[in-house]
Amino acid sequence: MRVSVDPDICQGHGVCRMSAPELFHLRDEDGQAYVTSEIVPAGLEESARLGAASCPERAITVWDD
Ligand code: F3S
Repeated sequence: MRVSVDPDICQGHGVCRMSAPELFHLRDEDGQAYVTSEIVPAGLEESARLGAASCPERAITVWDD
């Protein structure tokens, strides 16, 4: 599974971070979310889906590769 955050859509709400802190991080500069790797580690698939579903801007995409 893969996950990405679209920086053009993210508004820094931070809900993804609260939902899945093991996957989503917030930049100090602007509060935007990012992932350290597009590849979702085994066992964190549900967290990735949860984070994506939690974003009010729908800035997070998850897909199976
Ligand atoms: Fe951005 Fe959505 Fe997270 S707006 S900070 S990706 S909840």
